[in-house]
Amino acid sequence: MDKYVIDGGRRLEGAVAAQGSKNACLPMMAAALLAEGVTTLRNVPRLADIETMAAVLRALGAGVEWIGPHEVAIDASTVDKHVAPYDLVRRMRASLAVLGPLVARFRRAEVSLPGGCAFGPRPVDLHLKALRELGATVELEGGYIVAEAPALVGKRINLSGPAGPSRGATANLLMAATLAEGVTVIEDAAREPETVDLVNMLTAMGARIEGAGSAELVVTGVEELRPAEYEVMRDQIEAATYLLAGAITGGDVTVEGADPEYLTPFTAALAEADVAVEPAAGGLRLRGELPVGPVEVRTAPYPGFPTDLQPQTTALLTLASGRSVIVEGIYPDRYNHAPELARLGANVEVTPPTAIINGVHKLYGAYVMASDLRAGAALVLAGLAAGGETNVRRIYHIDRGYEDLEEKLTSLGAAIRRVAEE
Ligand code: UD1
Repeated sequence: MDKYVIDGGRRLEGAVAAQGSKNACLPMMAAALLAEGVTTLRNVPRLADIETMAAVLRALGAGVEWIGPHEVAIDASTVDKHVAPYDLVRRMRASLAVLGPLVARFRRAEVSLPGGCAFGPRPVDLHLKALRELGATVELEGGYIVAEAPALVGKRINLSGPAGPSRGATANLLMAATLAEGVTVIEDAAREPETVDLVNMLTAMGARIEGAGSAELVVTGVEELRPAEYEVMRDQIEAATYLLAGAITGGDVTVEGADPEYLTPFTAALAEADVAVEPAAGGLRLRGELPVGPVEVRTAPYPGFPTDLQPQTTALLTLASGRSVIVEGIYPDRYNHAPELARLGANVEVTPPTAIINGVHKLYGAYVMASDLRAGAALVLAGLAAGGETNVRRIYHIDRGYEDLEEKLTSLGAAIRRVAEE
């Protein structure tokens, strides 16, 4: 297992480019299953999660090959199995995205239940409901979702969940509906740009979908889809993480590919904290100065403040000049980073779904442990600001979502290295 050793307290300065979006790319790889032939994705980030999805597709019989540094070719003409095994799905919940495409093209799928994750239960009821409403029979057997559908027939389906729309369920239903008979109307669909990107890719494959970016998607089923070539959007969560690296070190960081529109609620919160962010060089530039002001943030589905930026933002607010409040509107228990930040000297009181952050003047290096991807990113950010040496352990979580993290941070002037732990 590797760890990061960070010598903190350096001001970061310079520019980095955002990688391709992990969360947009994962369902797109599954979407390649919908068409016989070779689909090519460009701007694919080199990440552990992408390799896991590649392994899922290979387990189904597909050919998956890197044909360039960030280019993947997926040959779905050889798919001859319809089981996504426990061993892969338990590693990554997004593997669930093969469910819709398998049922649509092969009328059968067995996908392991993903289980919970480090920050709480993550149900799959909306995924199952979506397929059932299209006419599939869906049973749970031996820890697997077993779906069969001699025919899929479009209809009006409401996908409202307790915390608003579900990205994953919207993706599964979208993909299944592309090959269903007739018209499927998805109500309360996810509006995330990642979902829009998936719609654009499916459209390039010959699907007929209207309403992308709105809460109602209308899918008119077609007989078959064709393989496509598609360039994945940039990763806005990664982009914002580097902007925060600038903020937490009082630095000056530009991220090429950061999208001002996607990040509006994030930059609005930063503005409230007196942190200036402005469009620059095909992205965003942040000029930081500590301490930042305290703010109130509530996470919500897009176009709200992204839950995937909550831990990293919490890290910044540990150094605010007063009391900040965070309310987690999506995952009430997503605060595994709080006790670890406390090891660095932060003062965060958690009463789910709320965290009160009482800003401190300084953080000090310590040993901390990443419990999940974004919590890990939060600890790296805090380590960049902390005086002395911070050791972030279990960074395999961070490798799931950040390509070349240490190279990028080093190019900005950070002192961070990856060290193998016995
Ligand atoms: C995606 C992102 C993840 C992000 C999350 C919320 C990917 C690969 N992952 O995950 O990084 O944190 O969106 O923005 O894109 N829910 C149900 N029943 C379901 C499905 C979801 O109740 O069947 C609930 C969830 O518990 C959660 C909310 O709906 O409270 C949103 O989850 P969802 O959008 O489905 O998350 P994912 O697509 O899994």
